[in-house]
Amino acid sequence: MMTPVRMRGIAAVFFALAPAALAQSQTLCGQYAYYANGGYEFNNNMWGMSSGSGSQCTYVDRASSGGVAFHTTWQWSGGENNVKSYPYAGRQLSNKKLVSQINSIPTSVSWSYSNTNIRANVAYDLFTASDPNHSTSSGDYELMIWLGRFGNVYPIGSSVGRVTVGGNTWELFSGYNGAMKVFSFVATNPPVTSFSSDLKQFFNYLSSNQGFPASSQHLISKLPHSLALQFGSEPFTGSSTTLTVSNWSANAN
Ligand SMILES: *[C@@H]1O[C@H](CO)[C@@H](O)[C@H](O)[C@H]1NC(C)=O
Ligand SMILES: *[C@@H]1O[C@H](CO)[C@@H](O)[C@H](O)[C@H]1NC(C)=O
Repeated sequence: MMTPVRMRGIAAVFFALAPAALAQSQTLCGQYAYYANGGYEFNNNMWGMSSGSGSQCTYVDRASSGGVAFHTTWQWSGGENNVKSYPYAGRQLSNKKLVSQINSIPTSVSWSYSNTNIRANVAYDLFTASDPNHSTSSGDYELMIWLGRFGNVYPIGSSVGRVTVGGNTWELFSGYNGAMKVFSFVATNPPVTSFSSDLKQFFNYLSSNQGFPASSQHLISKLPHSLALQFGSEPFTGSSTTLTVSNWSANAN
């Protein structure tokens, strides 16, 4: 009688471990190849690839509710002022809250690039819209926070000066991408390869100083492609390089 019982026990442990093991190695090489686990998602987004040529693969190394790890290897040439892609990890948020109703957006990240002779940023990307059901390919507002800036690339718009917020000093750019207003905080001391902050402070700054209407803008999210709260890199050009994000976590409370 002992043997069957023990075998069932072993089988149960094996099946319980199998999904976690799968979550630790996903290879995403196709356009918009996507994976989600533990409230996080990954997208091998290559939206601007037609402005040049190259390739990109994103590898999910760890994905659980405690945080994620991934790496992306790419090479892009041509169109040196055109963004080729945005491989990213995103936090899936089920509530579409008004920014004014969000108390905090705690996050921390550690990252590195292997070959830094590239034109690329490493950045957070958040979108808000007055319509909570807004299409997730854009918003009324976009907030970018650039921790990395390689090869003298620039964000949309023009500089409105230096500001200190969220534990670092940034040059703030503002401008428009079509009808969407874009605010980009670019670290004055890049690369900031280790960063912990509450991103709500950036929205608070924009509300107080740049007329951002927090009480009518929602952090937009439409599962499974959340778009609301992302971290990744926008490559312009460069020969083979790997972005490694060894731990990223984020939430909106
Ligand atoms: C958003 O979509 C949901 C689900 O379809 C719907 O119930 C809600 O009324 C919509 N909200 C707005 C402001 O359109
Ligand atoms: C990732 O970061 C989060 C937030 O700081 C932390 O709670 C978690 O333990 C970290 N995970 C690893 C594997 O380092």
